[in-house]
Amino acid sequence: MGNRATGAAGHGAHLALALLLLPGPWLSTGVPGAPPLFNVSMDAAPEQRWLPMLQHYDPDFVRAAVAEVIGDRVPQWVLEMIGEVVSKVESFLPQPFTDEIRGMCNFLNLSLADGILVNLAYEASAFCTSIVAQDSQGHIYHGRNLDYPFGNVLRKMTVDVQFLKNGQVAFTGTTFVGYVGLWTGQSPHKFTVSGDERDKGWWWENVIAAISLGHSPISWLIRKTLSDSENFEAAVYTLAKTPLIADVYYIVGGTSPREGVVITRNRGGPADIWPLDPLNGAWFRVETNYDHWKPVPKRDDRRTPAIKALNATGQAHISLEALFQVLSVFPVYNNCTIYTTVMSAAEPDKYMTRVRNPS
Ligand SMILES: *[C@@H]1O[C@H](CO)[C@@H](O)[C@H](O)[C@H]1NC(C)=O
Ligand SMILES: *[C@@H]1O[C@H](CO)[C@@H](O)[C@H](O)[C@H]1NC(C)=O
Ligand SMILES: *[C@@H]1O[C@H](CO)[C@@H](O)[C@H](O)[C@H]1NC(C)=O
Ligand SMILES: *[C@@H]1O[C@H](CO)[C@@H](O)[C@H](O)[C@H]1NC(C)=O
Repeated sequence: MGNRATGAAGHGAHLALALLLLPGPWLSTGVPGAPPLFNVSMDAAPEQRWLPMLQHYDPDFVRAAVAEVIGDRVPQWVLEMIGEVVSKVESFLPQPFTDEIRGMCNFLNLSLADGILVNLAYEASAFCTSIVAQDSQGHIYHGRNLDYPFGNVLRKMTVDVQFLKNGQVAFTGTTFVGYVGLWTGQSPHKFTVSGDERDKGWWWENVIAAISLGHSPISWLIRKTLSDSENFEAAVYTLAKTPLIADVYYIVGGTSPREGVVITRNRGGPADIWPLDPLNGAWFRVETNYDHWKPVPKRDDRRTPAIKALNATGQAHISLEALFQVLSVFPVYNNCTIYTTVMSAAEPDKYMTRVRNPS
């Protein structure tokens, strides 16, 4: 991203045009791979709060990205149907998310149906690796890779967001421009959360049915938990129990020894709770996209290489830096990896995201 900014500046006369056309990269912090960081204020009305961030992006680029993701992930018949029923679905969707999407759609001149669809479509195909680990002193570390097919678009749309309440950072997350949920986030001095897809097949009619029953989209529950839950235990309870529109793995890290867990979710509730057990040698848990009690399919084994790399690192040497290295081992890190985040709720300033596979 830094290179792109330099390149634009180097073209002198074209600078103004480049600024109009380039989404985001010229906001670069100067750290290679670091995504732009934005504040989103919960003190502002839901329809308004994302607009200061959106102003930094070319609306044509965002609209094209939305069309690409929807076009690929959502069957045509669903597009046609949802265009008709969106007004009904809308009234079932939880707030403030729906009003936030509406505000962005108005700003971007995008239909609300498309805005809602793209916010749900991502839920369908995030392949990931999440790791929670405890070092020999009892510190908790949490890391994740987010792998997704539309890399070239999504890399340019990856952002770190600080959500402000009363002007203070209430929680932090990593997401994509236009996407109001979080797959990755941190409540400072309390807990960290990541979500990994649990693929049970994807039927849109079931999703729409689940929404009308009041079930939460997966990434919206992560954000709500980061916003509302007082501590690790409360977060685990909410993430385990709240009805969802699809299955998922939630990985949660806390601030005290043994506060680390993989929650395997069915839509209705927990299928399994798998905590750290450091006294019995289980100082880390690795979750990719398969139930931990079952073998991984040979065609997609990111679990064994991650475990090998953690074994080689050793509990005494695990740290955020070491975790980032583990998340950089092939095929844990692969050509679909969009970003890597490492975080530790006890040291919130060390939250770090890097966009991977820069083109
Ligand atoms: C907004 O969308 C409408 C309908 O597609 C179109 O006619 C109009 O030109 C668009 N306006 C802008 C500013 O893109
Ligand atoms: C975000 O808000 C915090 C807290 O008010 C402030 O310290 C910081 O400078 C803001 N950062 C950006 C990028 O606007
Ligand atoms: C990792 O280490 C544990 C404990 O020594 C061992 O049981 C396990 O087989 C190792 N796994 C891999 C993939 O190396
Ligand atoms: C991505 O990696 C896979 C598996 O190693 C490989 O088959 C594929 O060609 C790669 N794709 C690109 C675009 O590099």
